[in-house]
Amino acid sequence: NSGLITIDPGFKNTGSTKSAITFLNGEEGILRYRGYSIEELAEKSSFLEVSYLLIYGELPTKAQLEHFQNEITTHTLVHEDIKKILDGFPSNAHPMGVLSSLVCSLTAFYPESLDPNRSSKEVDLSIIRILSKMPTFAAWAFKNQIGHPVNYPDNELDYQSNFLKMMFALPAEKYKVNPVVAKALNTLLILHADHEQNCSTSTVRVVGSSQASLYASISAGINALWGPLHGGANQAVLEMLEQIEKAGGDTAKFIAKAKDKNDPFRLMGFGHRVYKNFDPRAKIIKKAADDVLGQLGVDDPLLTIAKELEQIALKDEYFVEKKLYPNVDFYSGIIYRAMGIPTEMFTVMFALGRLPGWIAQWKEMRENNEPIGRPRQVYTGENLRSYVDLNKR
Ligand code: SDX
Repeated sequence: NSGLITIDPGFKNTGSTKSAITFLNGEEGILRYRGYSIEELAEKSSFLEVSYLLIYGELPTKAQLEHFQNEITTHTLVHEDIKKILDGFPSNAHPMGVLSSLVCSLTAFYPESLDPNRSSKEVDLSIIRILSKMPTFAAWAFKNQIGHPVNYPDNELDYQSNFLKMMFALPAEKYKVNPVVAKALNTLLILHADHEQNCSTSTVRVVGSSQASLYASISAGINALWGPLHGGANQAVLEMLEQIEKAGGDTAKFIAKAKDKNDPFRLMGFGHRVYKNFDPRAKIIKKAADDVLGQLGVDDPLLTIAKELEQIALKDEYFVEKKLYPNVDFYSGIIYRAMGIPTEMFTVMFALGRLPGWIAQWKEMRENNEPIGRPRQVYTGENLRSYVDLNKR
């Protein structure tokens, strides 16, 4: 603290804004979107309805929801030139890098989106376009990775089912959406939809605060989410569980590694900046994992390992003292895996869910005319010194 400026690494004790969108209570494990509990929304709502709620602040009437859904269906197709961008990626490209690139390419196809002073009606059109095209981009990133032909959207299907069909349909055979999978995806997308000022949302707000376009801001958010400490954790959890399985299910060994100060290994899917109690989303996803795997007849040994890890950690004094509980990423990958979604696509699933939250937060920041994000620093470098010619160094 230099008297003038307080340094707060990671903004652990800094509030960056005021927001009316999402409420978290970390001590009691409460999460609400626009005042509605996620328990009720996950049970009774649909992902598009929750998207409308987050972005426009109210649950839509029947007419408003139908209009919103029709608008989104109308815009699902993407410009054929985007396939040229996709084809430029080698098949080993991580889908998150493909996704953030395709999203940013929208600035080229809709240059009017670069105008910071366009009408709210035009902003609404940009919002519809990215909500409707992101599932297509996500599915195309997956097809590019496995060397399969891409699928075009099917406007007869709802949001989740259309995504699943674009992901898994093959020209050689008829594809039928499994209602169990579609329902589970609806729940997972709702649970990921917003989470106040997390790392990627703060990124979207800071990028948008310079009056960069919605598409550029969302593309930045996707890249922030990619990190294994944030949205990338759902992929890291599965890789950790597979490591434990390979080590003969020796969970105690990995708990010890997580506690060892000299070992960089962390128990992925555990801990949270805000929740110092159970992440309410983890509770719902854990139950959904049992239900979905049961209904799909999938018996995944990694789920057993995950539950064992949770049991040991919750009784271990290191985790109890540091208030480390399972977070949203701990069980979600188990369900994605049972749906046939590959590990490298897990964080793309997180991005699909978080999209309406990023949009809502960006819109609120712009409507509130928030100042450009530009923090200060305490300088710890060299004092003034004179240049030394090369032949004297
Ligand atoms: C998400 O912010 C959000 O809302 C994010 C999110 C959202 O919806 O947007 O909820 C989504 O990102 C969930 C978190 C996914 N990440 C992981 O599961 C990765 C593992 N978790 C940790 O890296 C960590 O818990 C974070 C990143 C989630 C939180 O980090 P903090 O708040 O900066 O806490 P910290 O790193 O300072 O840890 C506090 C202490 C440390 O020990 P000390 O230095 O005090 O001795 O707890 C320890 C850490 O070493 N610790 C862990 C641990 N998490 C924290 N030790 C072992 N395993 C862990 N998972």
